[in-house]
Amino acid sequence: DKGNHRHFMEKEIYEQPEVIAHALSHYIDFAGNRIKALSGTIDFAKIPSLAISACGTAYLAGLVGKYWFERYARLPVEIDVASEFRYREIPLPSEAAALFISQSGETADTLASLRYCKELGLKIGAVVNTRESTIARESDAVFPILAGPEIGVASTKAFTCQLAVLASLAIGAGRARGTVSAEEEQVLVRYLAEMPRIMGQVLNAVQPKIELLSRELSKCRDVLYLGRGTSFPLAMEGALKLKEISYIHAEGYAAGELKHGPIALIDENMPVIVIAPHDRFYEKTVSNMQEVAARGGRIILITDEKGAAASKLETMATIVLPDVDEVIAPMIFSLPIQLLAYHTAVFMGTDVDQPRNLAKSVTVE
Ligand code: M6R
Repeated sequence: DKGNHRHFMEKEIYEQPEVIAHALSHYIDFAGNRIKALSGTIDFAKIPSLAISACGTAYLAGLVGKYWFERYARLPVEIDVASEFRYREIPLPSEAAALFISQSGETADTLASLRYCKELGLKIGAVVNTRESTIARESDAVFPILAGPEIGVASTKAFTCQLAVLASLAIGAGRARGTVSAEEEQVLVRYLAEMPRIMGQVLNAVQPKIELLSRELSKCRDVLYLGRGTSFPLAMEGALKLKEISYIHAEGYAAGELKHGPIALIDENMPVIVIAPHDRFYEKTVSNMQEVAARGGRIILITDEKGAAASKLETMATIVLPDVDEVIAPMIFSLPIQLLAYHTAVFMGTDVDQPRNLAKSVTVE
């Protein structure tokens, strides 16, 4: 049932504040402001490294997770798309753990990667939406994302719930490894707890502007997304979302890679969507934006209040989100990215929930 929404995708985008709150309550003890002890699961204090594998949007969630596990838990992370991971013959120590991220829990390549790691003797964790799935069944530890059924082929709420779970796990791992103090944990958990409310505000605030902007975007043949740090996987997720439902060619790049190739594509016909919260990467990303502007490129800047105040560049549009801590920025910045893809596709009249050539669950290699 779509309720008041035109598509399942729209419904699922607007469900995010609620499902994220639900997911967080599974991992967070709100009274004590701490991550719950995940008994009988992977011992993050003891493992030397973590391997992560997944496909599509789930892989991009894992890529954000890599930044968090490395930053908060000082845990080295090896990550690859499952279709490469399973064949690469990665030397993985048997004392390590592996996480497999999958909405459906049935993706063929992800399952094959899981079985490969199991054979090597690694502890297996599954970050899944469908608990009664093959990937969940074959894992030692199941970390549910509790997003509820996701019908739209383009993943939205599953992505942000995967992020919420990975952030909780990384902070919990940091506590276990002594790289996050009890005080730091409290502060981070408070930020996570505020997230559902902020998401609700953002969804309402940005919608009109994004709907207008999507008319412009629907006229384009190509779109480039740029970001640094955790905004880099987000740039790739934005591009994936746009291409899969609007069929506009889009690419996500690390902002620092711009001058190593993609800058050759920049002209007035190709909008560049820059994801730039006012974090420690902001100044660097702005200088990449200047390179785009100097070549006549049209910039769509997605930033926060501090970032908007600090930018002097002329843009085609600036989407301003509230200032939030770095740990929740990826989830908050996902929202305008999803809405932009959604409204562009609606405007173009594509089959948003069932885009051509795609299946919700990819059970063949
Ligand atoms: O069910 P899974 O999470 O394993 O699916 C992985 C990908 O097929 C999936 O995320 C795909 O990329 C989505 N259509 C993206 O919106």
